[in-house]
Amino acid sequence: MKIVVLCGGDSPEREVSLVSGKSVAKALSKKHRVFRVDPASKGFFNKLIKIRPDCVFIALHGGKGENGTIQGFLETLKIPYTGSGVCASAICMNKIVMKKILIFHNIPTPEFIIASKKDAPEVPFGFPCVVKPASLGSTLGISIIENPSQLKTGLRRAFELDSEVFIEKFIKGKEITIGIIGNEKLQVLPPIEIRTERKLYDYTAKYKKGGSQHIIPPEIEQNFLDVAQEYAIKTYKVLGCCGCARMEIIIQEDGRMFILDVNTVPGLTPLSLLPDAAKHAGISFESLCEKLIELGLERCAKN
Ligand SMILES: Nc1ncnc2c1ncn2[C@@H]1O[C@H](COP(=O)(O)OP(=O)(O)OP(=O)(O)O)[C@@H](O)[C@H]1O
Ligand SMILES: [Mg+2]
Repeated sequence: MKIVVLCGGDSPEREVSLVSGKSVAKALSKKHRVFRVDPASKGFFNKLIKIRPDCVFIALHGGKGENGTIQGFLETLKIPYTGSGVCASAICMNKIVMKKILIFHNIPTPEFIIASKKDAPEVPFGFPCVVKPASLGSTLGISIIENPSQLKTGLRRAFELDSEVFIEKFIKGKEITIGIIGNEKLQVLPPIEIRTERKLYDYTAKYKKGGSQHIIPPEIEQNFLDVAQEYAIKTYKVLGCCGCARMEIIIQEDGRMFILDVNTVPGLTPLSLLPDAAKHAGISFESLCEKLIELGLERCAKN
């Protein structure tokens, strides 16, 4: 097949995307004719049309590559692509919208209020709390607010990056991530506990060697992990994810747990969580990439 791997782009996660794209292209080039294309490069549209790929592998993180924009563009061109469709991509990229849908389906997510640009609100769930831009990734614009005096600065910082901002209850607990692969028939990958010495599992923790540890299996009671797995599957289904996604969950000591985040284009670098989880399930990086193309073609054929 002729495969275009889209990587780079103009989001703040450009650098990570370039590494993901390189790994994916290398893995796929054993079986396919692979072209790496950067949607932020000059003449992107003409390049794509000239190649006329059988499938586009989206290795773009954040921004237009993950929020449904590129997906819609490829739909218009009738070019099949990997991962979730337009709607699920858009929902998962906007945490406020995503959380409202989870609440509707009785899936636990931390309590939150929507912030206004005008004034710092009363925080009904107290401190510490977390200020977050609705639609960014890589922990950009997120701050932990320890007391009311820090709220204004946190909000200002978040509003500099996004027009929609919310304040979320801080959850103390262990953080795990669960990856899922599939369209209708789902394969749940082994959970990974994420540990970092840093306050947040932020950009440095994620992408710098030694910034975080992947604990497989997590040092968490199995019955808690079973519940987390059920929530992960339910989340994937109600949000309409396809191909793959990686859910982030915090589990409190008492076993109560909350879905924090859903990544529809999870990192695909050698250090990334989804490839690591797949490896522990006996799925090589090559087979993972291959599978994602198969699932992309299947979803597009159904539409
Ligand atoms: N409510 C919360 N309570 C405790 N910790 C939190 C909370 N929200 C976020 N965090 C911490 O901050 C990290 C980043 O938060 P979140 O996943 O919401 O942001 P993000 O920018 O979408 O991250 P990414 O896209 O890189 O996964 C989490 O992985 C977690 O470590
Ligand atoms: Mg996250």
